[in-house]
Amino acid sequence: MFGRKKKVLGLDIGSSQTKIVELSAGKSKKLLNFGISKVLPDAIVEGEIIDREAVLDSVRTLIETKGFSTKDVVLGIAGRDVIIKRITMDRMSEADTREQIKWEAEQYVPFDINEVSLDFDVVNPNFGDNQQEVILVAAKNELINNLTSLLKDLNLTPIIIDTTAFAVQHVYERNYEVVTDEIICLIHLGAGMTVINVIKGGSSLSARDVYYGVNAYISKLQKEVGFNYEDAANAAKGTVPPGVSQDSIQGVFESFVSDLGTHIERSLQFLSTVTGEEKVSRMYISGGGSLIPNLTDYLKRRFGIPIEALNPFKNIIYDPNIFVPMGADVAGPILAQAVGLALRGE
Ligand SMILES: Nc1ncnc2c1ncn2[C@@H]1O[C@H](COP(=O)(O)OP(=O)(O)OP(=O)(O)O)[C@@H](O)[C@H]1O
Ligand SMILES: [Mg+2]
Repeated sequence: MFGRKKKVLGLDIGSSQTKIVELSAGKSKKLLNFGISKVLPDAIVEGEIIDREAVLDSVRTLIETKGFSTKDVVLGIAGRDVIIKRITMDRMSEADTREQIKWEAEQYVPFDINEVSLDFDVVNPNFGDNQQEVILVAAKNELINNLTSLLKDLNLTPIIIDTTAFAVQHVYERNYEVVTDEIICLIHLGAGMTVINVIKGGSSLSARDVYYGVNAYISKLQKEVGFNYEDAANAAKGTVPPGVSQDSIQGVFESFVSDLGTHIERSLQFLSTVTGEEKVSRMYISGGGSLIPNLTDYLKRRFGIPIEALNPFKNIIYDPNIFVPMGADVAGPILAQAVGLALRGE
């Protein structure tokens, strides 16, 4: 309808918590509403829903208590059933690319090509003599069907499905100045998964999911310090139970961040082989795990480049009271993906 802008809810179903963000319609975005609700442990493993009821419960809690004003949802996906790949193929029209992409995808997608949904984005139409660079996204139909049916049970309508990596990238592009030649690494550190997206001039060079996150830190704390789950989860947030020395935790922290650093390093290795001398100039970190005390400082020292928390609300209007009691600094990194998804509204 003429002049009518449409808003959507950004829905991020994480393995530890569900996040929903509602932004205003129109060009300048305002945060209208958001919610965060726990998901039972092991309900989602490596992006796959194992306990459907637990996930339904978590989303339902938010929908029933928060009073969002639309049922249209942009959903984020990541994990084993989602492939993102930057590929080169013969240059052709967009319509022809659409025709051809299935045959190209066959060599990059490790699933039956007839059982995946494909999407693509031409990120560099002029590559070499007669090539183009295309970002290919493939997701198993089974994953999409499961999620779509889950949303249907909640009376929600999926409008767009996007990947975690691109949702976080969208947040970056909306809130920070994109310098054409700079290589930026976006790290989204969740409970079970870390999504690492290396971008240059507004397009992704490489996006990977690593199955290593805060859960690994929490279980190390349980095993090596002897904490129960709750004490370990609190210690990961910086709250050490009474009578426990900070020193006993320090060793576990160092081993966790060192492994995380190695995962990030591996995700950057392609830069030296593919693009020659190019280096990442800065990193932005988001996801609940980015709140682990001293984590950012450790990564700064290890990589020797500026690293800061990704603030999804930098260029978004909000009433600071909306974040009471957690505060925008804590909510921001946790809501980053959901904000990126909600930004797809008009
Ligand atoms: N203040 C904090 N300090 C440290 N860790 C935190 C803090 N708040 C939350 N976390 C941890 O961050 C994780 C939740 O972050 P997030 O919501 O990004 O993960 P998720 O989306 O549920 O997981 P995944 O994306 O891996 O499926 C939990 O493991 C939680 O313990
Ligand atoms: Mg997540």
